[in-house]
Amino acid sequence: MTDQLIIFDTTLRDGEQSPGASMTKDEKIRIAKALERMRVDVIEAGFAIASPGDFEAVKAIADTIKDSRVCSLARARDADIDRAGEALKGAAAGRIHTFIATSPIHMKYKLKMEPDAVIEAAVHAVKRARAQCDDVEFSCEDAGRSDIDFMCRIVEQVIKAGARTINIPDTVGYTIPEQYAHIISQLVTRIPNASQAVFSVHCHNDLGLAVANSLAAVRAGARQVECTINGLGERAGNAALEEIVMAVKTRRDLFGIDTRIDTREIVSTSRLVSGITGFPVQPNKAIVGANAFAHESGIHQDGVLKHRETYEIMRAEDVGWNTNRMVLGKHSGRAAFKARLEELGIALGSEQEFQAAFERFKDLADKKHEIFDEDLQALVTDVERAQVEESYALDFIEVHSRSGSTPQASVRLRVDGREESAVAEGSGPVDATFKAIEKIAASGTSLQLYSVNAITSGTDSQGEVTVRLEQGGRIVNGQGADVDIIVASAKAYLDALNILAAGVKRAHPQIEGV
Ligand code: KIV
Ligand code: ZN
Repeated sequence: MTDQLIIFDTTLRDGEQSPGASMTKDEKIRIAKALERMRVDVIEAGFAIASPGDFEAVKAIADTIKDSRVCSLARARDADIDRAGEALKGAAAGRIHTFIATSPIHMKYKLKMEPDAVIEAAVHAVKRARAQCDDVEFSCEDAGRSDIDFMCRIVEQVIKAGARTINIPDTVGYTIPEQYAHIISQLVTRIPNASQAVFSVHCHNDLGLAVANSLAAVRAGARQVECTINGLGERAGNAALEEIVMAVKTRRDLFGIDTRIDTREIVSTSRLVSGITGFPVQPNKAIVGANAFAHESGIHQDGVLKHRETYEIMRAEDVGWNTNRMVLGKHSGRAAFKARLEELGIALGSEQEFQAAFERFKDLADKKHEIFDEDLQALVTDVERAQVEESYALDFIEVHSRSGSTPQASVRLRVDGREESAVAEGSGPVDATFKAIEKIAASGTSLQLYSVNAITSGTDSQGEVTVRLEQGGRIVNGQGADVDIIVASAKAYLDALNILAAGVKRAHPQIEGV
């Protein structure tokens, strides 16, 4: 055991498995750089065999990131492991993370394998991974429902085969803290070679217990926690990185361990992930929600003013709140713009992309005098998305809305290069806009979610809109930002249509036969 807790971020892999949260390669690189800046120990960059896009993203992140270990997921299959190894070749520090299910229900119905065959496959996978990478992690998928004696057997064997991190996922979010902690402490004490590996936990939040389970496991001896920014992830999500890190830091008296994380990067990374994936952060979310440090009641305000610790257990500035600095303005030139993007770890692919971003920046600076980092991140997301084959682009929009009358929207789009216009009425200006777009697109999609967030404070803030559309079982999140929220809404709707039109499909690692 060490007194250091390893933070393993899986936003780009398990987080991306949230319906609609798929990201482009450039967006993944931006998030990976933010995670590196935050000093995350291990970044799970993806599942290399899932698709050519996933492979390219893992490879690009492995080639770029220097200060965090970069990891790729691989089932216990030769082809998966070789693909992961190939994607990680350029990494300063790489890791292959291989897994196989160990619960009776998964082995019988999903894998259709006998327990001894599962052990054999796991040992073979770890050895093959070790031949390509000296850092190998092994996961017992559905460990929360696995038999403890069987897990002791398989884990002992994979450690012998060379795995140096053993992950015990609660894949379906079934366990409760005492039970999960008990699983970890039994493994750590009963397996003869346990001291040769770091025990890791990976909890899903189906019962709202992912963070509690992870922390209980840390108290029982786990020294790596797998988590995601904002708790993004399959179904109800994974354990939230920011909550794990701040719990351990705030209650150091109890845990007696440290992380390497620069906690001041938490809020900006949370905003970046939320902006890119289109998963808004609820206002009362711990650490990163807008209300997390806001005191409303007079008694609390009075107490905090007299002595901060009366009602505050953490300092807002320690997690990166209140650092909204005006970074650029109307008079900032190309050099200042470029320098700030570089400081944020943003490298736009081509001169043409940079020029498009700079023009948008100038346009924004005319409407909004103070430009913050969050504005730049949203602007770059917009520009990068516009580079991805656009079937639909907004040319013009005019909306009439007056009390007592029915709102009307006129839109002109470019559809695969052709100009098309439509006018529609709706119950509100956004509804009218979406109806006008649909008159042209006739996409047959259903709107699942519409949300608007102010990117920064003040009434001149850009509105960041998320539109979630469903089409034949496929769910995508579109994003758009603008100081005019109707324009932002139209952009978000068109972005979702463009993602659907691009038709990128991704394999799911927990489905056999991918
Ligand atoms: O939840 C899970 O079991 C996983 C594994 C692939 C580690 O995500
Ligand atoms: Zn998972």
